[in-house]
Amino acid sequence: VSAVITRGQRVRTAVLISGRGSNLAALLAAAADPAYPAEITLVLSNRPDAPGLTLARDAGVRTVALAHADYESRKAFDRAMHGALEAHGTEFIAMAGFMRLLSPWFCAAWQGRLINIHPALLPSFRGLDTHARALAAGVKIHGCTVHHVVPEVDAGPIIGQAAVPVLPDDTEATLAARVLAAEHRLYPLALARVTGKTMKTEPDQPFLLAL
Ligand code: GRF
Repeated sequence: VSAVITRGQRVRTAVLISGRGSNLAALLAAAADPAYPAEITLVLSNRPDAPGLTLARDAGVRTVALAHADYESRKAFDRAMHGALEAHGTEFIAMAGFMRLLSPWFCAAWQGRLINIHPALLPSFRGLDTHARALAAGVKIHGCTVHHVVPEVDAGPIIGQAAVPVLPDDTEATLAARVLAAEHRLYPLALARVTGKTMKTEPDQPFLLAL
């Protein structure tokens, strides 16, 4: 999968959120460097009360809030989202805690220009409650994955992964915090990988971020 970037020096990137926005904060911090290949030009939330919207506004980034409950269908919501993204000249989308399934139509419209971060080492633990399930499974290594988005949930091609140990005394909360710290390192590197100049010459290989 490769992205088609048509305009500008830095890739105009929208971040989709539903909540806290700590990964958004990591991306904003990375993109504050003018040498970073992506510029965060829009933050869009399906929840108007998402704390991440405040982070974005404080960073001077435009925000759009579209309450999904106001739309009659998933596709109607996705069309509204698509319109807002296009209106802001969006070239690339990074999902960061966006807790809403996307329609096949939306995935097709943004294919190769739509990525997500998932708090597990895919293909293990797709879906929700990944840290509790990792503890229950007794895995000794856990982590996070940045991947391209396809209609099947958490199933798109892997861009990068970061691994962390699972420690004997871990609770869901301690493990989640360790993975989240890894997410904050991985996501800026992965977004740079897919939007950067190396994108056109390098094969789209996964990389391992050792922490
Ligand atoms: C992260 O754990 C991310 O992997 C998952 O949702 C969480 C979002 O956290 N998709 P934040 O809003 O970025 O703090």
